[in-house]
Amino acid sequence: MSDTYETTDLLNQYLLFHFGTAEQQLAFPEGMHAALNFPQRCAQAALSAHGARPKRRALDLGCAVGGATFELSRTFDQSIGIDFSGSFASAAQKIGREGRHTCLRHEEGKQFTELEVALPEGVSPETTHFAQGDAQALPADLGVFDLVLACNLICRLNQPELLLDRLPALLNQGGTLLITTPLTWMDAYTPEARWLSQPGQSGFEGLSKALSGHFDLISVEDMPFIIREHRRKYQYSFAQASIWRRTSG
Ligand SMILES: C[S@@+](CC[C@H](N)C(=O)[O-])C[C@H]1O[C@@H](n2cnc3c(N)ncnc32)[C@H](O)[C@@H]1O
Repeated sequence: MSDTYETTDLLNQYLLFHFGTAEQQLAFPEGMHAALNFPQRCAQAALSAHGARPKRRALDLGCAVGGATFELSRTFDQSIGIDFSGSFASAAQKIGREGRHTCLRHEEGKQFTELEVALPEGVSPETTHFAQGDAQALPADLGVFDLVLACNLICRLNQPELLLDRLPALLNQGGTLLITTPLTWMDAYTPEARWLSQPGQSGFEGLSKALSGHFDLISVEDMPFIIREHRRKYQYSFAQASIWRRTSG
């Protein structure tokens, strides 16, 4: 028998679950449908902040299977997606090449439904490029970009500061940076001493410190996203999305 239900964390979770008011339990008012299409919404938010600035090269770090990278390809001359996962990068290449990809949707127990997912209409896969790579050790010759996305990546890195230190050199002056994070820090990914969220410092304050001198803050908003586990269980999260402009510093 597991003793999971003897832990303080679970006791607190269930006290809130059984007796908390709506105000005590819910930090955000939106429903699940507003949480769909997160990668596309990220790209669109960054594009809207970017406005009429040059749209030569865009970079999507931690791109997973490429949803945001393809969205950027609607307007950018070239969009590059980099992910540490080789299987994600290969799947992004395949859906770019073939326009569709099969996937197994978990229903319950060992039951799965085979589905086909497709690239959205109007994207330009021929201008995208995907590679397996480490956002903490990007190639020196990667070049400079007009727009960079790092969506839900920072709290999955072992040394977030390595990416944060590299960001100024990745963006042209006037370029746009979007960082989203649900601030779900876990020792399994990031040692606690390197979390941007520390006692007396919010994750956003940590991020602002790391970017200060090189970026001006444009906006901050909460962006819901949903990842299906099975038919009756979903990860429903709210990323903090901040948009930054590369200054001359
Ligand atoms: C939480 S997912 C977010 C994926 C995508 N940006 C999104 O918003 O759906 C984190 C992604 O970062 C990738 N990742 C983790 N560590 C990385 C690293 N060091 N360099 C590049 N990608 C990394 C993972 O493989 C995964 O695709």
